[in-house]
Amino acid sequence: MKKRILTGDRPTGKLHIGHYIGSLENRVKLQYEYESFILIADLQALTDNFDHPENITKNVKEVILDYLAVGIDPKISTVVIQSQIPEIPELTGYFMNLVTLSRLQRNPTVKDEIKEKKFEINIPVGFLCYPVSQAADITIFGADLVPVGEDQVPMIEQTRELVRRFNNLYGKTLKEPKALVSRVGRLPGTDGRAKMSKSLGNVIELAESKESLRKKVMNMYTDPTRIHPTDPGHIKGNPVFTYLDAFSKDVKLVSELKSRYRKGKVGDVEVKEILFKILEEFLKPIRDRRKEYENKPEYLKKIMKEGVKRARETTKETIKRVQKAINLIYF
Ligand code: TRP
Repeated sequence: MKKRILTGDRPTGKLHIGHYIGSLENRVKLQYEYESFILIADLQALTDNFDHPENITKNVKEVILDYLAVGIDPKISTVVIQSQIPEIPELTGYFMNLVTLSRLQRNPTVKDEIKEKKFEINIPVGFLCYPVSQAADITIFGADLVPVGEDQVPMIEQTRELVRRFNNLYGKTLKEPKALVSRVGRLPGTDGRAKMSKSLGNVIELAESKESLRKKVMNMYTDPTRIHPTDPGHIKGNPVFTYLDAFSKDVKLVSELKSRYRKGKVGDVEVKEILFKILEEFLKPIRDRRKEYENKPEYLKKIMKEGVKRARETTKETIKRVQKAINLIYF
């Protein structure tokens, strides 16, 4: 039997190049080799968008378009809308007993997000508990491997702990998944901040137009200590070079550019022109493929409907095994 992959995205906007480097690239590559499930995590997105759910419902379609555009094949990969799988909150319910409040409060990803979203002491319980729900996402599908960006590693660790706890208490029932971390560490924002995020306004979308891409690249943060192109420049913490490392196939060109930059022998504009060209080459086919599907709402609905149907064959089976393990069998 093929091994399984499960990954997911919160549908809070169109996907960006950070998503691609973090996880989409691996998903596209591995979909032929693994049985793949891709979760559109609308319930998870709702934990901090409950007061404007339309934000999520309208973006589900955008995320599916992004999947198709980068080469996810819905015949091979199963696209699943989280809220349509009742077995996920069911398994979440069983998991809730196996984790403490203090353990959730220590989850580094959640901790960062609580700060970023300025919840202070008014943390919605659903938000604090979303790692438990994410553990259910992963284990309900019996995933072996979870392709994620670096920031999601604590989520997989929490999942592994929950699985071990469950299996110790009720007998070996669930599979302990492994994280597959991307080849490049986290892609910073165009403003040089560590995280690329829609709410920070520092993203390059996969659907970005050529004009807008050009503007964003030309406005990118570089080395603030460098005033003239003849000043020696810094590579570390310079997102232009991080993007070049992530997207250029020509390692030699990038290393030459870096060395000229360090010596003050190349200007920011010239480096940015090169980055723009490389990103445009990468994004053009994605943008074109996206357009092909934009006016096919019936096709998108079919993907959603069939994905949910296919997924439930697995999720129902897992819940049966879970209930049996806990001895919840009455008639
Ligand atoms: N938390 C992930 C993110 O913000 C999205 C997600 C939801 C996910 N469920 C998942 C990722 C299961 C991997 C596996 O990007």
